[in-house]
Amino acid sequence: MCGIVGYIGKRNSLQIIFDGLKRLEYRGYDSAGVAVIDEDNNINSFKKAGKVKELEVEFDKDLLAGKIGIGHTRWATHGEPNDNNAHPHFDMNKNITIVHNGIIENYKTLKKKLSLEGFTFSTDTDTEVLANLIEFHYKQKGSFEIAVRLALTEVEGTYGIACLCKSEPDKIIIARMGSPLMFGLGKDEIIVSSDAAAIINHTKNVIYLEDGEMAILKKDSFQIKTIEDEDIYREVQKIEYDLEEIEKGGFEHFMLKEICEQPEAIRNTYRGRINFETGVVKLGGLESVKEKLFNAKRIILTGCGTAWHAALVGEYMLEQYCRIPTEVEYASEFRYRNPIINKDDIVILISQSGETADTHAALKEAKKLGATTVGIVNVVGSTIARAVDAGTYIHAGPEIGVASTKAFTCQLMSLALITLMIGKNKGTISESELKEIADELKVLPDKMKQIIDKRNDYKFIAEEFKDSRNFLYLGRGFNFPVALEGALKLKEISYIHAEGYPAAEMKHGPIALIDENMPVVFIAPKDKTYDKIISNIEEIKARKGKIISIATEDDNEIQNYSDYILRVPNTLPIFSPILNSIPLQFLSYYIATARDCNVDQPRNLAKSVTVE
Ligand code: AGP
Repeated sequence: MCGIVGYIGKRNSLQIIFDGLKRLEYRGYDSAGVAVIDEDNNINSFKKAGKVKELEVEFDKDLLAGKIGIGHTRWATHGEPNDNNAHPHFDMNKNITIVHNGIIENYKTLKKKLSLEGFTFSTDTDTEVLANLIEFHYKQKGSFEIAVRLALTEVEGTYGIACLCKSEPDKIIIARMGSPLMFGLGKDEIIVSSDAAAIINHTKNVIYLEDGEMAILKKDSFQIKTIEDEDIYREVQKIEYDLEEIEKGGFEHFMLKEICEQPEAIRNTYRGRINFETGVVKLGGLESVKEKLFNAKRIILTGCGTAWHAALVGEYMLEQYCRIPTEVEYASEFRYRNPIINKDDIVILISQSGETADTHAALKEAKKLGATTVGIVNVVGSTIARAVDAGTYIHAGPEIGVASTKAFTCQLMSLALITLMIGKNKGTISESELKEIADELKVLPDKMKQIIDKRNDYKFIAEEFKDSRNFLYLGRGFNFPVALEGALKLKEISYIHAEGYPAAEMKHGPIALIDENMPVVFIAPKDKTYDKIISNIEEIKARKGKIISIATEDDNEIQNYSDYILRVPNTLPIFSPILNSIPLQFLSYYIATARDCNVDQPRNLAKSVTVE
């Protein structure tokens, strides 16, 4: 949720920390702050509500020179976004300085205990409590490392922390429980970060901390231990993507760049995984569980937000093409619902970031209940990717825009590949159908490009509706979840209230919302639901609703029922959600930009939700 950066080495840490914070800002942008140890071993810090760049112009950088430092960009959980609650936080003696990503659930109890010990507090945050708790133990043990360890044994909740100690100014101590944290090994320097984006322009050699681990980082050495004081050896891993992949590359926004990257991203998802001659799919990451997949009595798909929408499309695919009973769960509900899970159940967890706390918790629950867990993940080396029994990376490349776009269509492609693999094995997809699907898959990226090349067509429709207060999105079958996704995209980045529904549901209540001010987006592919969709359109039209239809190029009827039409090439039902999502991404993008919204960093949101 928040972004943590740290630096220890020979260079001035401040600019490195600032650049890192800017790269992590998609993780939270309520406030930012830095703390640096100067040549005289004083810890100087500066923090402020608002964006990193606002912080950067606010103060004299020379005041904060030093070769060891930590920084933070915040997504507020405890204490409103203001200067005082911004990180870093300190203990009352200003000996310990800390930045934290996560939630200390028992902070009130700890605060009471520390108050009885004479500690005082100047913020509403859980993090300040942790700083005082470390100082409490430091006063007893006189060792920074021991103090951090003892404090963390008392903490309940999640954390990724980086902290400094005035009494031991030669090190940074970091630790993780539930929130991602890693460090990069450069030449005579170490860079700490919540994810690879702040490290990649310094080194590709990284170490991921696991839950319950801490690391003591010095200029020329590091040590990894468990919170129980056991020494740990961790493999150095390589970051797989390049710096330019996390740059805007001339696009005005990351979201626009990522929408336009989808044809290549989809190719990366299926490259080397399907034989176009036979349609046979091979997913190396699922080899170890493929028999279980083929013999699954039930498949449960789970995730959050856009990933949950992808799961819904996956349900339609797996039931239609593999005839396996499939259920979809909100990860946040699944983990507390005491679900009935059998040992031959497969639980598929979908997550772009691989760090979403609710999805990670659902994973742990599924494992505890004996299910086989499979991950569909984008971020290589992420927590969920490392925790599942098996998985497949979607290879969409870094997704920086908070509103997920290319990850969604690549998740759909991964689900389609899994469906083809199982369907072929179970014989529920015939050879000819498999070949037909493989042929269509080959040309799909070109069809996506055709839609992308027409993006300017969407601008005038966006202009028409940018002042709307509400929107409805309607679809049937495979495209009902796409209606949900379209509504989510608009909500997320334009702050217009929008809802998605199965088109037939309108008659059971929501149709009461319809009048001449209600724009209604219909996803109307020429498939077996087409005639039903047309009658749904007529029901809305009869009540003066404004009709925007997503229709195929060869549909010559739709103009008789629609006020606006967004055309997409024809394709097979299994791929129509991929094509139909793109005009909806553009519609929300152009409406949001027409409203001057910050599409890459929408208010109140963050790219990966690492707290419950
Ligand atoms: C989608 O645009 C949002 N950013 C959000 O709903 C997201 O899909 C959700 O938080 C799940 O994230 P994940 O795929 O990284 O787990």
